[in-house]
Amino acid sequence: MNTLKNDLLLRTLRGEKTERTPVWMMRQAGRYLPDYRVLREKYSFFERCQNPELATEITIQPVEQIGVDAAIIFSDILVVPQAMGMEVQLIESKGPLLPDPIRSMADLDRLVLPDVEERLGYVFDALRLTKRTLAGRVPLIGFAGAPWTLLCYMVQGKGSKTFDEAKAFCYTQPKTAHRLLQMITDVTIAYLRGQVAAGADVVQIFDSWGGLLGPDDFEQLSLQYIRQIVAALKEEVLTIIFAKGAWHSLENMAATGANGLGIDWCIRPQMARELAGPRVALQGNFDPAKLLSPIPVIEKEVRAMLDAFSGGPHIANLGHGILPNVPVEHAIAFVETVKNYQYEPAR
Ligand code: CP3
Repeated sequence: MNTLKNDLLLRTLRGEKTERTPVWMMRQAGRYLPDYRVLREKYSFFERCQNPELATEITIQPVEQIGVDAAIIFSDILVVPQAMGMEVQLIESKGPLLPDPIRSMADLDRLVLPDVEERLGYVFDALRLTKRTLAGRVPLIGFAGAPWTLLCYMVQGKGSKTFDEAKAFCYTQPKTAHRLLQMITDVTIAYLRGQVAAGADVVQIFDSWGGLLGPDDFEQLSLQYIRQIVAALKEEVLTIIFAKGAWHSLENMAATGANGLGIDWCIRPQMARELAGPRVALQGNFDPAKLLSPIPVIEKEVRAMLDAFSGGPHIANLGHGILPNVPVEHAIAFVETVKNYQYEPAR
């Protein structure tokens, strides 16, 4: 049995009071780290994901170099569409490309409901090796994309500001869209169960494009599937939902029974707390671009963020992934400021 030396994240997610706020950063293993960029020269993105030794090394880099309180397994949300039979390319400086997107009911026949051990076993291998290599230093976070966010890429075929083609698909072919969302949901439940069996202490569901939907569409196209995933997993593992921009549904997201909810910088922590209720841990919400400020500004702004979250369980994080042009010392300043923070209520 692997006992953790630092379980701040787990205790916060269980709603326990802790000696200080835990801190990690979304996309913390990535291009802002010079050691990551070295590996990037030598191996393609999916080689880095599929080789457990490389994935482990990249996963642990921010634990050792930045001092975060959790590791998140190095992989990508798009490995699920890939395992379902779609071709996924990552184009340098352009992002993901899926050359044969889903556009009709007939296209669903091209998809498979994979045996996750067979098609995604490399992620489980990476989790097992990472868990062993971490040797209890910090908890390990597994993850998957929310069905709606994966549909966005599977239908649009590439990144987009609006995902208008993905939306048009849902609004004009609702039956096909819901069938696809259910397929992704079923694969995701099996995939996350496999991650838990391989050692993930927490799983986070990334709904990066949840905020593109109005409240009713968010319920129909996103949250009803996330709810199934959380329900299937919540007896086994701690869960975090990050639905960027979907602040209007914080109350409904809390009602899923998730342990943590990610929020971005466009909502005040106090308001998020009112909407989400007292129980759930809130995670966030530093504007990632603010890490480009001078270090004294970062320190001041991080303390202001921590003050604003002081009313309930909080996990310090960014409101979205760290940007590739953030200096390493600025990422360290973010983490150190959280670790050194003492709350002093204004008198
Ligand atoms: O958080 C971590 O450090 C773990 C690893 C992780 C990656 N992607 C590695 C990655 C995680 C959790 C993700 C999630 C992910 N992937 C999301 C949800 C979170 C978010 O940022 O909204 C999304 C939408 C994707 C899809 C994706 N993968 C995009 C849009 C891109 C290209 C643009 C970008 O941000 O780099 C990727 C590639 C990718 N995934 C990289 C990394 C480190 C960059 C690859 C490289 O160029 O080296």
